[in-house]
Amino acid sequence: MADLHLTQVRKCFGNVDIIKGIDLAIRHGEFIVFVGPSGCGKSTLLRMIAGLEEISSGEITIGGRVVNDLPPKERSIAMVFQSYALFPHMTVRDNIAFGLTIAGEPRKEIDAKVADAARILKLDALLDRKPSQLSGGQRQRVAIGRAIVRNPDVFLFDEPLSNLDAALRVNTRAEIAKLHRDLGATMIYVTHDQVEAMTLADRIAVLDGGVVRQFGAPMDLYRYPDNLFVAGFIGSPKMNFIPVKALSVSADTITLNAEGLDALTVAAKGAEILPGTALTLGIRPEHITISHGATPRHQGSVVLLERLGHQIFIEVATLGGHSVTALIDGEEEVELGHTVGLTYDASKCHLFDKNADSLRL
Ligand SMILES: Nc1ncnc2c1ncn2[C@@H]1O[C@H](COP(=O)(O)OP(=O)(O)OP(=O)(O)O)[C@@H](O)[C@H]1O
Ligand SMILES: [Mg+2]
Repeated sequence: MADLHLTQVRKCFGNVDIIKGIDLAIRHGEFIVFVGPSGCGKSTLLRMIAGLEEISSGEITIGGRVVNDLPPKERSIAMVFQSYALFPHMTVRDNIAFGLTIAGEPRKEIDAKVADAARILKLDALLDRKPSQLSGGQRQRVAIGRAIVRNPDVFLFDEPLSNLDAALRVNTRAEIAKLHRDLGATMIYVTHDQVEAMTLADRIAVLDGGVVRQFGAPMDLYRYPDNLFVAGFIGSPKMNFIPVKALSVSADTITLNAEGLDALTVAAKGAEILPGTALTLGIRPEHITISHGATPRHQGSVVLLERLGHQIFIEVATLGGHSVTALIDGEEEVELGHTVGLTYDASKCHLFDKNADSLRL
């Protein structure tokens, strides 16, 4: 069993703290995705798990064994990078077999493992080709094959699909999901891509500046972000944030107002908020509807309009001076410059306090 535990893992380069004390408990067979903005430490953390980068302090265990001081090849991990780094002069077969060949495994066993990996990855017909005779997606599958034959306890992927075009990404993403189901191995996958994170992960760790901002199931992060950072990072298009004030507070509701926004009452059981407190209202574009009459709502004029087919993406400049984006039905009658009313689904509103923490409505 390859449970993986990180305890207070830190990394500094010189006197710059890059990874600032990360705790993660990953269960055997889980598919974990690390997301976060560029430079937040995703690759560094992955390389520390792989043993390619020393840790400055803390502890990493794989399958109950402390691996801090073990070299990469003794950690039972295999890593797949963004650049596939295949040997151009070798065939697909030899590329996949490379690690086993230099480890001196018997030819018969190598052949069997390569055949197995080729079958899983549908590379059977391509084994005698050179990398230059393959598409990008096929090359990435060869790189994954090289990882599979090593039969690791943990697979580490660092943005493996980012060199592929959009259609290939979708295909290869589905193949990686299937590979995970078939092999049942623990996988950690780094990506910038929201959709990859949401669709592949059992749990997502959202990193920011070397710390984990939230670790949870994709839909939990979407529905219940712990803080403004996660709320703004998960979900595309991004959640709207509007500065508001608590007008009045009852046992289980808060009534809010903002400049140009009619009072909005949201359910908030047990929130310890005083009237007058400044808060941030978060509402996702897909939880806003528009209307054309004058009923209580946020009003403004449409300054951007993109028709996506089944949906329309609009940006509304409100009378209160905010910019609010909404995703509305593709058949809605709306044009650039129209004045529209915005209605927020009160059951889908989020509130954040001055520390950027969610009030957990
Ligand atoms: N060897 C190094 N020496 C000094 N600083 C480094 C080193 N490697 C990485 N860093 C710094 O550590 C930070 C984290 O880098 P890392 O590559 O882990 O980010 P990332 O989240 O993978 O970003 P990206 O999404 O762009 O790949 C960056 O600020 C980077 O400049
Ligand atoms: Mg990186």
